[in-house]
Amino acid sequence: MTGGRTLLGQGAAARQRAGGAAIAADGLVKIYKGGVRALDGFGFTVAAGSIFALLGPNGAGKSTTVKILTTLSRPTAGDAFIAGFDVLREPGEVRRMIGVVGQRSGVDGAATAVENLRLQGRVHGLGAKRTSVRTAELLERFRLTDAANRPARTYSGGMRRKLDIAIGLVHRPRVLFLDEPTTGLDPEARADLWREIQALSEQDALTVLLTTHYLEEADRLADRLALIDRGRLVVEGAPEELKAGLQGDTVQIELGTESLPELLPAELEQLDAVRTFTAAGDRFRAQVEHGATALPAILSVLEGYRVPVVSATVSRPSLDDVYLQYVGHVYDRSGLDEGEAR
Ligand SMILES: Nc1ncnc2c1ncn2[C@@H]1O[C@H](COP(=O)(O)OP(=O)(O)O)[C@@H](O)[C@H]1O
Ligand SMILES: [Mg+2]
Repeated sequence: MTGGRTLLGQGAAARQRAGGAAIAADGLVKIYKGGVRALDGFGFTVAAGSIFALLGPNGAGKSTTVKILTTLSRPTAGDAFIAGFDVLREPGEVRRMIGVVGQRSGVDGAATAVENLRLQGRVHGLGAKRTSVRTAELLERFRLTDAANRPARTYSGGMRRKLDIAIGLVHRPRVLFLDEPTTGLDPEARADLWREIQALSEQDALTVLLTTHYLEEADRLADRLALIDRGRLVVEGAPEELKAGLQGDTVQIELGTESLPELLPAELEQLDAVRTFTAAGDRFRAQVEHGATALPAILSVLEGYRVPVVSATVSRPSLDDVYLQYVGHVYDRSGLDEGEAR
C-alpha cells in the first residue's frame, strides 16, 4: 500500500478483507441491460506477483469480470479491490496500478510501434523524455526494435499481441490484465507469448490475471486458476492441486466408430476399476483407479462388443478431467472462435 493513506469510512472494512491480495473480488453480480446475468456471485483473490487464470468457455463471464476489475464496467452487486484500492470508489488509483490488454487489439494499425507507445506515454502523462526511454525499453524487451518504425498493420499476429502488451506496460503497472491473450494465434506464436508472460511475472514481479478458454494454457501458465462457468466459480486452486485431487488415472481411447452398442455403457459401469466415463463421438474417456488394470478390462469389454479401437492411452488426470468432474460434462472445444483450427 502506498504510504500515508488513511483507511476511513465504508471502504475500510472491505479493504481489510482484501488483505494483501493484488486482486480481490467478492460476490460479483453483473446483470446487463436486457437481463443477461453474466456474473452470479463470482469472487476470487490473487496473490501479488503470481499468474492467475480465469478459465472458462465462451460466455462464461471472463471479459465481464475483467471489465469490472479494470473500472470499465460497474457490477450490479459485489465489490473488488486492486492492491487494496476499491474499483468503485477509487477508480483513479486503480487505473494507475493496472495495465489492460483487452480481448480486441488496441493497436493502431496505421501507426508504428514507436508511435503507438508514445501515444500511450502521453495518455499517462509520462513526459517526452520518460516516454522515449520507456518506449525503447519495451521495444527491446519484446524484440520489436527491428519493426519499430513499420506500421503495425504489417506485423504478424504474435507481434501485434506483444505490442498490445507493451502498450499496457508503458506506465509500469503492478497488475496486468490480459483478456484471451493468445486466442487466434498459431501454436508457435502462442508458445512465444507464454514465455513472455512467464517472464513478466518472474523478472518484473508483475501480478498477471489472464483469461483463457484453453485448458492447456491455464495449466501451463497459472500459479492458480479459477474455473468459471455461467458467471459462477466452479473451483479454484493450483492446477497441480486440482489434478492431484482427482486420484487415479485417466484412460483415453480413440474408437473406430462413433456409435456405441446400447448395452456397452451399463457393462462398463459394472467394472470395479472404472469410476466414471464419458463417450463423445469417437472418444472414450474414463477415470480409473489404476490405469494398468483398468485398461485391459475396458479393452476386453469393447472387444466383446466388437467395437474397433484405434488407440488407447493411460495418463494422469488433466484439467479436462478436472472440468469434467466439477462441471459434469466434457469441456466443449467446438464452440471456440474463428482462427482456431484444432
Ligand atoms: N454488453 C453486453 N450486453 C449484454 N450482454 C452481454 C454484454 N457483454 C457480455 N454479455 C453477455 O454476458 C455473458 C458473459 O459474457 P463475457 O463476459 O463476454 O464472457 P466470456 O468473456 O467468458 O466469453 C454472455 O452471455 C454475453 O453474451
Ligand atoms: Mg471474453
